Amino acid sequence: MPKNLLLTRRQVIWLSLGTFTGLAVLLKGKDGYRNIKILALDEPSRSFSVIKKEESLKERAAAKGIIYGAAAQDADLRLKPKLAAHFVQECGLLVPEWSLKWEPLRPSPDRFDFTAADWMAEFAQAHSLLLRGHTLVWHLSLPPWFKDTVNRQNAEKFLVEHIEKVAGHYAGKMHSWDVVNEAIHVDDGHPDGLRKTPWLEFLGPDYIDLAYRVAARADPKALLVYNEFGVEYDEPKYDKKRAAILKLLESLKSKGTPLHALGIQAHLSGSANSDYKKLRNFLSDVASLGLQIMITELDVLDEDLPSDIAARDRLVAKAYEDFLSVVLEEPAVSTVITWGLSDAYTYHIKTHRRADGMSVRPLPLDADFKPKLAWNAIARAFDSAPRRRSLK
Ligand code: XIL
Repeated sequence: MPKNLLLTRRQVIWLSLGTFTGLAVLLKGKDGYRNIKILALDEPSRSFSVIKKEESLKERAAAKGIIYGAAAQDADLRLKPKLAAHFVQECGLLVPEWSLKWEPLRPSPDRFDFTAADWMAEFAQAHSLLLRGHTLVWHLSLPPWFKDTVNRQNAEKFLVEHIEKVAGHYAGKMHSWDVVNEAIHVDDGHPDGLRKTPWLEFLGPDYIDLAYRVAARADPKALLVYNEFGVEYDEPKYDKKRAAILKLLESLKSKGTPLHALGIQAHLSGSANSDYKKLRNFLSDVASLGLQIMITELDVLDEDLPSDIAARDRLVAKAYEDFLSVVLEEPAVSTVITWGLSDAYTYHIKTHRRADGMSVRPLPLDADFKPKLAWNAIARAFDSAPRRRSLK
């Protein structure tokens, strides 16, 4: 073995340590392999080699002026290099699935912890990913101290301070923010169809306008989005929700609220059938308000589909293609984000268990990161989508 390849005892220790804790990279210094740089597995800027040759989803989307990305948990991206590598390969945008919510950011009423979210921002920057914030105002994922601390007297202070601090911390780095998430729930009986959240209870309906105005001041560059679910299908409950959302958007736009886009979560059902005629009209109505539309949490629930994996994957792929071929006809649809990339890391593992005990398969890549029929369906939908004029 050439002399310069012989490792000193010290280097062997470093290398074994590095292999254990991270990736030991032998860097060829001037005098041979002297310098060993330990790239910790969790180093956000760690580079990844190209995995597959055919055009990725992000490239196919970008060819039509569409942004494609996905959600991920910081712990998964940090500690699962295969996920990180495929994420960088397939996605042009990253939305933290958890780390920008109140609970992880707010360990106590007077403290903010940006550690996990900052790692995600560094990962996005290191790999030229757009970064998306989710979510500044929601009724879920609130910290344990919230219910005993926030009240009618101090709710505005907490809301304003949170948005100023968090949106301000990432000002200039965020492609978009879900400022308010899921504020509509018609069955709660509020005249505007608003969901009975602590924010509505303590501040009234104007909490929504306030949130967008504070966010616009804190980060003038970010697209400010209202994010919602339950607008996709034809049943009457969807009609009511679409009508309530449209009413809210019209009201906000009429008072000059700095709102730029509607986010449609699109957690689809693999067993639902729809020609999406009502959805198509809804998208057109939203676009006529001058709003962009983002598909923000796309996945296809297969919990009540057949056990046979080939049959299930075909139905999931059909649901993706049927939905995307309709929504991508609307030029205002700028972005498609799947709520995860691989079946190994989907939140449906926790929330939707199959009766047969089999793993759910809602996403474009399987648990071994192999493209599924769903990946092909999304790719075909991007390939056949009309090209957009360049959007932000
Ligand atoms: C979910 C995440 O995927 C979970 O990991 C977390 O425990 C709870 O929230 N609609 C939303 C998302 O807007 O924030 C939710 O994400 C899924 C439903």
